[in-house]
Amino acid sequence: MCGIVGYIGHDNTAIKTVLKGLYRLEYRGYDSAGLAYAESGQIKIKRAKGAVSGLNDKCKQIGPQTLAIGHTRWATHGKPSEENAHPHVSFKRELALVHNGIIENYKYLKEILKDEGYIFSSETDTEVLANWIEHAKLRYDLALEDAVHEALKGVHGAYAIAVLDSTGQKIVCAKKSSPLAIGIGEKEYIIGSDATPIIGMAKDVIYLEDDQIAVVTKDDLKIRDIDNNDTSYKAEKLLLDLQAVEKKGFDSFMMKEINEQPETVADCLRGRLTAPGPEIALGGIEAVMPSLLRARKIIIVACGTSWHSALIGKYMIEGLTRIPVEVDYASEFRYRRPIIDSEDVVIGITQSGETADTKAALELAKTKGALILGIVNVVGSSIARLSHAGIYTHSGVEVGVASTKAFTGQVAALSLLAIKLAYRLGYIDDEKLMDLKDALEEIPSQIQEILDDSTAIEGIADIFSQYEDFLFLGRGISFPVALEGALKLKEISYIHAEAYPAGEMKHGPIALIDEACPSIFVMPKDNTYGKTLSNLQEIKARSGRVIAITDVVDEDLVNSVDAVVVVPKTLPELTPLLTTVPLQIFSHRVAIKRSRNVDKPRNLAKSVTVE
Ligand code: G6P
Repeated sequence: MCGIVGYIGHDNTAIKTVLKGLYRLEYRGYDSAGLAYAESGQIKIKRAKGAVSGLNDKCKQIGPQTLAIGHTRWATHGKPSEENAHPHVSFKRELALVHNGIIENYKYLKEILKDEGYIFSSETDTEVLANWIEHAKLRYDLALEDAVHEALKGVHGAYAIAVLDSTGQKIVCAKKSSPLAIGIGEKEYIIGSDATPIIGMAKDVIYLEDDQIAVVTKDDLKIRDIDNNDTSYKAEKLLLDLQAVEKKGFDSFMMKEINEQPETVADCLRGRLTAPGPEIALGGIEAVMPSLLRARKIIIVACGTSWHSALIGKYMIEGLTRIPVEVDYASEFRYRRPIIDSEDVVIGITQSGETADTKAALELAKTKGALILGIVNVVGSSIARLSHAGIYTHSGVEVGVASTKAFTGQVAALSLLAIKLAYRLGYIDDEKLMDLKDALEEIPSQIQEILDDSTAIEGIADIFSQYEDFLFLGRGISFPVALEGALKLKEISYIHAEAYPAGEMKHGPIALIDEACPSIFVMPKDNTYGKTLSNLQEIKARSGRVIAITDVVDEDLVNSVDAVVVVPKTLPELTPLLTTVPLQIFSHRVAIKRSRNVDKPRNLAKSVTVE
């Protein structure tokens, strides 16, 4: 949630850089935006409700600046409004602060500050934090960085902050649980909640650790540890290029990302299928393979779309390896007193690598002695770092809030893991291994075939875009695909959509069926096809309209349905990698027909760093 940007350097480009960074980080929250800078010994702020473009309009008159901090917000405390937007200036105007996270004890701190005469102008926990730091600064006559250090001792919660004071000489950053990156450019530093504002501006980046404080001046970057002593740091090379954050001629990031899937799935598979020998190469888990092979059970935790790929992973891993797999919502896992011990493996699946619930679930599992694996897209993210081992999905930067290419990347990574384990455990022989590897190798070009036919899918979407309710149905490994299809549609078009295992339909959901509630069946020709076809007929018998996503041209089916999409044929274990794609195109088109902002759907945020 929320995006932070900062710039300090010798160029007078602070405002432009911060605004550009905020546009790139808008996917993290777009309720309101703001920026702060210091001029003639005074702090100045500009804030606007709504998108960054509103802030941009308000910043046109600002003169050249060498430092600024900015923020794009996803509301937690207090409604989206200009007053609640960040930056927050402290009561005595000593400092301005932007914050991502939640200050859990803000009410307690606020009472102390009120007793000291502080008056508040917003409902946010962030204003409390700004005042709390100012209070420490004035009380002990401290430099800004020392005041931040002193104040944070009394703060409970999650935060990534950037602070400047009225002297305009430095930006002080600190973090706990929420991410913060600092790009090291030529005579300039760029701060970001993630690397996206830094791309194209700096080649080296450091990711601040929990409890560290960074003091950034025009010429220098110093990092302090929890005891406020200077500590060394190592910069990493930033490998992302500008293309990653541009639309490349597509109308939306989501459509660009849907179309990138042949490439991103290939990137996930690259080098892993073609390693010498028959085995699948997954360098990130090789060291822990003995423990993995001994696993008593696997638990997968995730949220949102990643939870759907976890469910697909369950079908794949159990089906191929016979290791029992439990899948849990990360937000539920912690509070159900999960039964885990050191013989279990807990896998966290996450695009961002920063989702607070997933992180907390993995941290809990770690304390129980379980082996922690991360299936993560963002390299170097918090979950990548806390995992004992893992698999990067290599899907590249995903900007669209509704996840597409990250999902297929996760499913591809899970299929590699399942096949590798099955082969090592002796559940599949060389021949089956080769079949699976060959089938995986074909997936990118098969996705391309689906994309090449997207006009036909969009035509179906045009016909169905007026409906207000949808049912998505599938059996076996296609059930999570149905769940993902329903989520995609509701996320970006705001149409009510539910998914059920097709066999459950007659135990309740069928009551919804009439001409006004179409069903989308995900039904590749696997061992459940015949049963699913019967379920489909039950819906047709009740005047329900039906779209089928399948991989077989079957006359019985074609004659029964209102529309059919045929995807290329692959092995049953891998069908989600193909059947998902028409559902993405369908949802995107329906949302566009309804004039929705597909990249920034209302109320959502891409990276959910609060629980
Ligand atoms: C948010 C996003 C979803 C995403 C979920 C989990 O809700 O809007 O698209 O699936 O978080 O995110 P993660 O980064 O952990 O995969």
